[in-house]
Amino acid sequence: MSRQVVHLDVDQGVAIIAIDNPPVNALGHAVRDGLVEALTRAEADPAVKVIVLACRGRTFSAGADITEFGTPPRDPGLHEVIERFDECSKPTIAALFGTTLGGGLELAMGCHYRVATESARMGLPEVKLGLLPGAGGTQRLPRLIGPEKAVTAIVSGKMIGAKAALADGLIDAVVAEPVQGAVDFAHTIGTTSPVRVRDRDEKLAAAKADPAAFERAAADAVKRLRGIEAPAACVESVRNAFTMDFEAGLAAERAMFMRLVTGDQSRAQRHVFFAEREAQKIPGMASGLKPAAIGQAAVIGAGTMGGGIAMNFANAGVPVTLVETGEAALQRGLDRVRETYDISVRRGALPAGATEARMALVSGTTDWARLAEADMVIEAAFEEMDLKKEIFARLDGVAKSGAVLATNTSTLDIDAIAAATARPADVLGMHFFSPANVMKLLEIVRGRDTSHQAIATAIAVGKAMGKVPVVVGNCDGFVGNRMLARRTTECERLLLEGALPQQVDAVVLKFGFPMGPFAMGDLAGLDVGWRIRKHRGVTAPISDVLCEQGRFGQKTGRGYYLYESGSRTPTPDPEVEALIIETSARLGVTRRAIGDQEILERMTYPMINEAARILEEGIAIRPSDIDVVWVYGYGWPVWRGGPCFHADLVGLPEIVARLEHYAGASGDEGVRPAALLRQLAEQGKGFADIGKDAKAAAA
Ligand code: COA
Repeated sequence: MSRQVVHLDVDQGVAIIAIDNPPVNALGHAVRDGLVEALTRAEADPAVKVIVLACRGRTFSAGADITEFGTPPRDPGLHEVIERFDECSKPTIAALFGTTLGGGLELAMGCHYRVATESARMGLPEVKLGLLPGAGGTQRLPRLIGPEKAVTAIVSGKMIGAKAALADGLIDAVVAEPVQGAVDFAHTIGTTSPVRVRDRDEKLAAAKADPAAFERAAADAVKRLRGIEAPAACVESVRNAFTMDFEAGLAAERAMFMRLVTGDQSRAQRHVFFAEREAQKIPGMASGLKPAAIGQAAVIGAGTMGGGIAMNFANAGVPVTLVETGEAALQRGLDRVRETYDISVRRGALPAGATEARMALVSGTTDWARLAEADMVIEAAFEEMDLKKEIFARLDGVAKSGAVLATNTSTLDIDAIAAATARPADVLGMHFFSPANVMKLLEIVRGRDTSHQAIATAIAVGKAMGKVPVVVGNCDGFVGNRMLARRTTECERLLLEGALPQQVDAVVLKFGFPMGPFAMGDLAGLDVGWRIRKHRGVTAPISDVLCEQGRFGQKTGRGYYLYESGSRTPTPDPEVEALIIETSARLGVTRRAIGDQEILERMTYPMINEAARILEEGIAIRPSDIDVVWVYGYGWPVWRGGPCFHADLVGLPEIVARLEHYAGASGDEGVRPAALLRQLAEQGKGFADIGKDAKAAAA
């Protein structure tokens, strides 16, 4: 027999309908069915005067069951359930706590009243899944809080807290405990007939008379959301709330939802939602394995990276010690951390007083003995193998037994570093991306001997820091930078063959990346790659020439582009164009016009090919992990789902054919289709099929 997911209890005239569907009380078919059934009984029961809608477990409902999106609809639909609560002849009160999201909030807004605990947060995050709230959210929220605030909330998908919700009119009371609070609230409404949200008009009046304020709020909400369909649909639908009657607005919302839910953008965003969670599942790891508690952390190296990592610990509430070799460098590092917090406070990203509160968790020392206190140590010193080996050997001598010893290397061999210690099981890579306190991706690199315990702890720490951890294998560049190297090679080739930086960047921007590769190079500093190339004895003729001329990018005001003093806006530079043309001529390359389609293919297919090799070698556990790396670490547009998801949409046979062509043209065997890619294409399969196989194996 299937578990009961909705309960009905009646006590002293109050019916409590409680959803019980762990972990997040998603409103799947069984729940919807149960709700209609319970409501029908409560409404028919003469003993019931008031109905409270509650949830058991850790939170009020987090919304529709996302796994049902894109599958055939099953009655009763959510809008039908909400309509029943709305039309109920007895007052209905939703008792909110935890995170009330999406369909959960739409259901609560279908009730006549809402109460919430002080810590409760609520929002309509559908836009993050490429959707708009499709069960009345765009029509009811404006009626409760006004169209300006509604459009801001719906387009951003951000949650608001109970206090703000009360001030704005989304809820009717803040209570100490959800169900009891709702019952107490029921006594205050007396016998007045319930007010339906759909009938409330007072917050719409101003926009009906003059929509200018709404249009300003809407324009503000969608700016910077290039290329995405859902935000515009959200705006249109909220506008309908004051230009149409309720029923017409609801019907239009439904139609837009159906269009979006079957589209590629929403499919991609739902894929990333589940991919991010799947990435934390490690095949073979015992399900009961508990991460070690980290009461104290240490970071070796107080440079920009080390300071950023220390901030991550402090932000997660973990005391952290920055360890440096000299007092001056240590002080500079601590000052930089403080200054970064101050900037966030000045910008309003952190509340006043946050600097002191966070800095209270950050200490500094030049005394290595202090490393003995730490449960986790992250080394963020220079990227040099001998130095890292020396640090780890020394660390091995002082660190407490069982402490996780991590390196923030972005390229070096984890096994070689682990071999400098007598405890390789505790050693792994924690590869943060710059700026470390901002970027969401965390590559956790496991070495040959890294234990599951150390990996589980690193994942838990990453999550507590608000990062998206992805476990990867040990190889040059790991997942992200290894694929990026393929793109960088193509960039240089495209310039030599006939393209210009601004043309390539424009194509990549149009695809949806926030920045093109050349503007990105200028931001990161071209000298970094130049130094690595010299060290490895390789050349990149155009980039090398730029560096020889001291054009290191933004920091020198000149790179692939020109930068006016103090500006970060790239301006195409005729000197660079001349230099590129000259280099092509010097190397005997006849330049040709290169079309945007070719540029796009060369900016994506060689990376997809490298992803296939990474999977062949077991460096990534599953294709969706690679998608997560690129979405959270490198700006791959989330609505394109990541490189593997995108490859499946394009079709692998097409990608294989184009790679063959480009490998032939360049003579670069690295561009030749990987065996796995070829095999999947021949079998009519995609990356998603490997993902399914990996999931089945893990289960
Ligand atoms: N439908 C289906 N499954 C959902 C879900 C939903 N709306 N929300 C969460 N889940 C699943 C997750 O996939 C995860 O499953 P797993 O354990 O098998 O990996 C599990 O519930 C727990 O979610 P998780 O995100 O890991 O927990 P959390 O405590 O970190 O966060 C939420 C909880 C509710 C904040 C977060 O899950 C969330 O934002 N959910 C989406 C809400 C949403 O977009 N709703 C709109 C849909 S209308």
